Amino acid sequence: MMLHDKFGRQITDLRISVTDRCNFRCVYCRSADPENYREHDEILSWPELNRLASIFKTLGIRKMRVTGGEPLVRPGVEDFISHLRALGVEDISMTTNGHLLADRCARLVSSGLNRINISLDSLDSGKFERITRTKSFASVMNGIDAVQSSTLAPAKINAVLVRGINDDEVERFAIFARERGLIMRFIEFMPLDGDRHWTRDVVVPAAEVYERIHSRWPLEQIPHHHSETARKYRFADGTHGEIGLIAPVTQPFCGHCSRIRLTADGKIRTCLFSKEDHDLRSLLREGASDEDLEIYIRSVVMEKEEGHRINHADFRPPTRSMVFIGG
Ligand code: 5AD
Ligand code: SF4
Repeated sequence: MMLHDKFGRQITDLRISVTDRCNFRCVYCRSADPENYREHDEILSWPELNRLASIFKTLGIRKMRVTGGEPLVRPGVEDFISHLRALGVEDISMTTNGHLLADRCARLVSSGLNRINISLDSLDSGKFERITRTKSFASVMNGIDAVQSSTLAPAKINAVLVRGINDDEVERFAIFARERGLIMRFIEFMPLDGDRHWTRDVVVPAAEVYERIHSRWPLEQIPHHHSETARKYRFADGTHGEIGLIAPVTQPFCGHCSRIRLTADGKIRTCLFSKEDHDLRSLLREGASDEDLEIYIRSVVMEKEEGHRINHADFRPPTRSMVFIGG
C-alpha cells in the first residue's frame, strides 16, 4: 500500500535535508547563522539516511530531492545519490545554491542525479552578494554553465521575489532564460523567513510576473501534472528557455500536494507550515525495526495537514525557517 493521507492524497515525493549547514548566509535565512547549527550527532548519519531512504522507497516514494542547508557542503552527498540510484528511485533531484557546483557537477551526474535546481535571487552581482552575504556571484554563474553543458541541462533556476528587493529584475531573469535556454522559476515569498520580515505587501503575485513577461514575450502554457507546483510556459516566438510560476500564496496548490519532508535532524514534516515535526530519529536510534518505522511513517503521513493557512486570519508562521525545513 502506497503512502496516503486522510484526504486521499498519495504521497510520492520526499525532500531530504542532508545538512543544516550552509556556505551562504542569506539575509532572510537566520538559520544559516552558525549559532543555530545543530550538533553533529543530532544530524542523521549517512547509514541512517540510507536506511530511511530504503524504507521510504518501499512505501512508494518515487521522487527524492536532496536539499539542505546547502547539500554540497556535506561530504559524501554523491555517494548518497548513488545509493538512491541503486535503490531504484525514479527521480532524484537536488536543490543547491550553486556555489560549489562547477567542481562537483560531473560527479553528481555520474552518481545518477536526474535534475538540479539552483537558487538565484538576483542577476546583479552586487545585489546578489548583499543578499547572500558572500562573494560568490561568479562561482554560481560558473555552476550554472557547468550544468548547462552537462546532461542535467536545462538547469532550473529559482528566484524568490521580494517587493523592493528584486522585483525589478523579472524581465532580466526572463532574458536570462531566453539567452541560456534554461528554466527560470519565480517563487512567491512565503512567511518562512527566520527574521519574520514577511508581510503580504512584499509578496509579488505570480499573476503580475506573468503579465510583465507575457506583454513583452508572449507565453504559451505547457500542460502540467496536477501535483506539480509550477505553472509552466514556453515562449511563443520559439526561443528556447522556459518560465515557471510558483504561487503558494496567491494560488495555493495544497489540494494536490504529494510531498513530505525529512529534516537533517531526522524529523518528518508533513507540511512546510506544520506546527510540529515528528521524531523519526529517536525511534530509529532506539532500535526500531523497519516495520516499526513503516507503521510510524504511515501514521504520521495519514495526519498530514489539509493545507497551509497563510490566507487565514489566524495564520502563525512555523518556528523553523526554510534552511532547516529543506526547500
Ligand atoms: N519563500 C519562498 N521560497 C523560499 N526559499 C527560501 N525561503 C523562502 C521563502 N520564505 C527558497 C530558496 C530556495 C529553496 C530552498 O527555497 O530560495 O530556492
Ligand atoms: Fe543558504 Fe539557502 Fe539559507 Fe541562503 S537561503 S543561507 S543559500 S540555506
